Amino acid sequence: MPGSCFIVFEGGEGSGKSTQAKVLANRLRRLGFGVVLTHEPGGTLLGNKLRRWLKWGRGVTTQSELFLFLASRSQLVSKVIRPALDRGQIVICDRFEASTFAYQGYGRGMDLAFLENLNGFVTDGLQPDLIVLLDLDAERGLERKRMRLDCFEREEFAFHRRVREGYLRMAASDSNRWLVIDGSLPQEQIGDIIWEKVSQFVG
Ligand code: TMP
Repeated sequence: MPGSCFIVFEGGEGSGKSTQAKVLANRLRRLGFGVVLTHEPGGTLLGNKLRRWLKWGRGVTTQSELFLFLASRSQLVSKVIRPALDRGQIVICDRFEASTFAYQGYGRGMDLAFLENLNGFVTDGLQPDLIVLLDLDAERGLERKRMRLDCFEREEFAFHRRVREGYLRMAASDSNRWLVIDGSLPQEQIGDIIWEKVSQFVG
């Protein structure tokens, strides 16, 4: 649909991606664009229930975890993202498929080709137009998290380092679609870098 655009924010814990996703959504709305801001896991009734399990549940196996993330994504794509894109809106999503490749693939060591197949099945091949990666040292990101830590934030540093490495590899292999930004820059500066890129997409 002309005018529609799918933008995803990715990054490790405490990278500031959720803040920047909101900043961008507000900026676009102020200019009169129709924007849907959503997030993963979650963004639907079922997805929000799964989010609680995924972040705070105990005893969830890594296999169950994977399928819960995929179930949440399937709901979000078919109930929220596709319909919004079909209406010609801009969709901004805080995490999408790259989180599965980074966390379950690079972080947990699951086979990437297997993950790509499963992911393609639940997204029906939907791909973001732009992926903004806020890259931050794992230690620094986790330092920013002072509240109660969820299941992922409690993982060892080595896990978070693999996640970061995974993101950087994905970004390097598809540099047209990925915008990598140093997450330690001041928030305003990050917002401006994102805006410069996004304004090319939305005219
Ligand atoms: P967040 O909303 O605070 O980013 O938390 C979501 C957590 O879930 C975060 O630690 C990353 C993790 N995650 C995965 O492991 N795989 C996925 O596919 C997604 C979407 C998130």
